[in-house]
Amino acid sequence: MALFKAARLREIPPGNRLLVDIHGIETLLFNIDGEIYATGNYCPHEEIELDRASLNGHTLICWEHGYELRVDTGECLTDCSLKLPTFPVVVKEGYVYVEL
Ligand code: FES
Repeated sequence: MALFKAARLREIPPGNRLLVDIHGIETLLFNIDGEIYATGNYCPHEEIELDRASLNGHTLICWEHGYELRVDTGECLTDCSLKLPTFPVVVKEGYVYVEL
């Protein structure tokens, strides 16, 4: 595991998301009420990109089949056998770091 500088914090104002590529891993960063979360960008159901998924609170709703995925825990509320990858985040001196 290593910590990678992913973005400037100001690039992700509250209520926004940012898709970044961290050494070939597409990672979604979310700012939900000032808290930053990092997840993979592919739905665990059929590997559809999630950067267009709608967000309701901490729950992403995949635009393809409507599966619901928690961005904080990775839990899939629609099918408990599936999990969205989530990554630890560190915010320091105006930058967002993701542990991969
Ligand atoms: S690909 Fe996301 S719910 Fe089916």
